[in-house]
Amino acid sequence: MNLLYSMCMKVFKCIIYGLCLVLTLDALADDPAQNVRVVWFSSPSTEAMVVWDSTKHDKSSELLYDTVSHGDQEAEYAFRKPVGESGPYTDIAKKRRAESDGEEAKRVPVSQDVFYYHTTIKNLEPETVYYVAVKTADGVGSEYHFKTAPVSDRPIKLIYGGDSRSRIETARAINIQISQMIAQDDSIVALLHGGDYAASPTRELWKDWLEAYALTTTKTRKLLPIIPVVGNHESPAKNPMFRQAYGYPGGPDDYFAFRLTPSVGLICLNTEISAEGEQKVFLRSALTDLEEHNVRWRIAAYHKPAYPAVKQPSVARVSWVPLFEAFNIDLVLESDGHCIKRTVPIRNGREASDGIVYLGEGGYGAPQRDPKPNLWYLKGDSAFASRGDHIMMLEITPNAINYSTILSTGEIIDAASFKARR
Ligand SMILES: [Fe+2]
Repeated sequence: MNLLYSMCMKVFKCIIYGLCLVLTLDALADDPAQNVRVVWFSSPSTEAMVVWDSTKHDKSSELLYDTVSHGDQEAEYAFRKPVGESGPYTDIAKKRRAESDGEEAKRVPVSQDVFYYHTTIKNLEPETVYYVAVKTADGVGSEYHFKTAPVSDRPIKLIYGGDSRSRIETARAINIQISQMIAQDDSIVALLHGGDYAASPTRELWKDWLEAYALTTTKTRKLLPIIPVVGNHESPAKNPMFRQAYGYPGGPDDYFAFRLTPSVGLICLNTEISAEGEQKVFLRSALTDLEEHNVRWRIAAYHKPAYPAVKQPSVARVSWVPLFEAFNIDLVLESDGHCIKRTVPIRNGREASDGIVYLGEGGYGAPQRDPKPNLWYLKGDSAFASRGDHIMMLEITPNAINYSTILSTGEIIDAASFKARR
């Protein structure tokens, strides 16, 4: 009897859960704006790039925003901004297939059924909650909210994750885990993605990823701003999707630098183009700026590692590491290897107490690999190497960056503290 009751309850719960899911998906499908997201790559205390997707192309769309919640009451919002750039996502893979199929196929519209919308809102107040809603000819969509970055020196947390490609279910599960974290912890200000969002530049895979990232949004519709670093699966020659999805962070060459807060400088680089030339000039200038303003924390992020746990060193080793060391950068975030690594502090090609730690390698959905067992920079008490689906949490305080690697199970598998140099 008990068994029968328990089975009935399970079936009942499944039906209720299924109904809730269908109702939620239906509500989302009716919303004129999908996957609403905030992208940071410039001045996060006063500006935000807001991006969303839609199955319709309505160039009259606007973003309504205010520091007070107004739901769908359009007239109540204090500010509105017309959409900037918008258009259909370019699906290079489909375009190439169409081209190889001949002239007739060329006339088939490419990915006309999903459109991106960008708009930048400026003159925002620091550390202030902004409520945003997309208004289209069909009405006002769901209201979301996000907080601008602080200009105070209070401790903040930054999530670092890279390589979300190929196992979308894992990426989804990690994003749900993140949504639970940000619902409980208001000090988490953003997520830095180290590149390789989707396995190939098809609209379907990017749609999967953007929908998966939308799972970081909490039940109260709190958005987690994303800082997007470009990976090899987004390399410019073959994939405009990255720029369309994130509002052209870093312009045509996909590298940029900004202050996350006045005491945290982030430099996001591109390992898919020349590491010399203009990019190196840019890096030197960004580091000089941080030096001249005596910015306490200097963090670089890029996709292919200078000190890899799995593959060969990237161009960053020769072109950028000497500059990192000359300017005493504090921490470097790397991806691409699909494992977990924390190097010993490195300077002049050897372990040194005043050296730089290289963290990351990517486990946000990508299949995991074993780190090479004999690398000197991954040995000893000051290093860590393993594998597993994960993200990294960086708590940035005036005295130290407290780092931990959090597995998708919630277990903390590695942690360390990096003392401030200045
Ligand atoms: Fe990669």
